[in-house]
Amino acid sequence: TTKIIIISIIAYFLGNISVSYMIAKCSKGIDIRKYGSGNAGATNVLRTLGPKAGFFAFLGDALKGAIAVVIGNLIGGENGQVAAGIFVVVGHNWPVFLGFKGGKGIATTIGVMSAINPLMVAVIVPIGIVIIIITKYVSLASILGMIIFPLLMLISGQPINLVVFSFLLSAMAIYRHKSNIIKLLNGTESKIGDKAKKI
Ligand code: G3P
Repeated sequence: TTKIIIISIIAYFLGNISVSYMIAKCSKGIDIRKYGSGNAGATNVLRTLGPKAGFFAFLGDALKGAIAVVIGNLIGGENGQVAAGIFVVVGHNWPVFLGFKGGKGIATTIGVMSAINPLMVAVIVPIGIVIIIITKYVSLASILGMIIFPLLMLISGQPINLVVFSFLLSAMAIYRHKSNIIKLLNGTESKIGDKAKKI
């Protein structure tokens, strides 16, 4: 358990390194959380700074998820992976260095799962992309993808600890999409391609 605690702390602080926040800060000197949805995530970087910045924000925030899992595995084996996967997302969503105002954990979860079960990513990400193409809502794709993810883990017979893990990641992601769910329901959610306004 000492190992698990160490892994969780490393993963939490790795999660705090918000590439979405840093790209906006370093390239334009702005706080991404004062634009668009106010979220420190790749989708908001995309609508505020454009596709290239959005792409690198996604890549960076996904990469740290994968790195955390690899570190977790090296130190603590399978349980280490799981602890790292949870805490890197916690660190991304609620970073102490950014006043606990971070992202929604989708890119980071994709990175985490790429290192744990790439096949799951290869199935769910394309579904998400299709949902974005059809509806133009990134948040809806994130929410639906995160609902499908633990169910698919369950029905495909994954080890029970990974199934529980996937439900935890799903719960965190859906909780972080509260404001999106409200906007989707009242028809005010922004669509992909919409430009961000200062808030
Ligand atoms: O991954 C975050 C995405 O699902 C929604 O982001 O900025 O539209 O709230 P945003």
